[in-house]
Amino acid sequence: DATSETPGPVRVEESDGVAVVTIDRPKALNALSAEVLTALGEAFAALAARGTEVRGVILTGAGGRAFVAGADIRAMADLTAAEAARLARLGHEVAAGIEGLGAPVIAAVDGFALGGGCELALACDLIYATDAAKFGQPEVRLGLIPGFGGTVRLPRAVGPQAARELIYTGRTIDAAEAERLGLVARRFADREALMAGARAVIEEISANAHTAVAIAKQVLTAADGTDTATASGIEVEGFERAFATEDHGEGIAAFLEKRDPSFTGR
Ligand code: CAA
Repeated sequence: DATSETPGPVRVEESDGVAVVTIDRPKALNALSAEVLTALGEAFAALAARGTEVRGVILTGAGGRAFVAGADIRAMADLTAAEAARLARLGHEVAAGIEGLGAPVIAAVDGFALGGGCELALACDLIYATDAAKFGQPEVRLGLIPGFGGTVRLPRAVGPQAARELIYTGRTIDAAEAERLGLVARRFADREALMAGARAVIEEISANAHTAVAIAKQVLTAADGTDTATASGIEVEGFERAFATEDHGEGIAAFLEKRDPSFTGR
């Protein structure tokens, strides 16, 4: 497809409806320049345009040392504050594109996920990691703060106490601690097991009604951070939309007829 033909810092490979999006800039530990962010945004927009053909996405980094070591510090050196704000907005747009994709997105983290890299992983539905993964928000060490959603999504993932500690100290934590904090959903011995584990859970998810999973994702994203009454309203609205799908009719019929459902994504 068009995205994989474009030479650039982001590769998209697809098999059996599972897209693997690889940030491929290993010499800079896959650091997020404006070019990388733009390519990532385009890759996710192209996947979104394919609708239910895409069953799930695995987002990862090339080179074996890093998922993403953060925003590109070298490129940031020349920016004005206003230009840096534009870069941060671009980072937020990429995160919104990942959250807006109907299919689940799994961050497969092997090596460093620091700063903007940790924030990119946080925008995904699930973070899976190898034992060699390292996470942190080291921005304060550069006189900065997280700029691609870290102050928003990290507290939601690990709670306000752990998030403040990580953001104020700039400390790097290993995969075991990240798992203990709830930042990492699952931990694997090596990269091969990580990719197989991510693929297996996408297989498991895609046996279910695609639209129901997409609505669940929308509801979880939209309700996140809202008060109980608002979140409940968003859930009821999503429940109603799921109820109106053909797949819901099929799911109920299959249960009553004691057979496996055959979902169409409608
Ligand atoms: N931006 C640009 N280049 C980076 C980079 C980054 N974030 N991280 C690493 N690199 C480059 C290094 O400059 C180096 O390039 P050269 O070989 O040309 O010198 C190459 O990648 C390899 O890195 P190191 O030699 O530093 O490797 P190491 O093993 O000694 O250290 C590391 C690895 C601990 C991850 C270290 O590279 C590091 O601390 N990187 C920066 C991490 C960081 O501060 N990230 C936050 C960035 S700010 C941000 O992300 C803001 C935001 O929220 C939007």
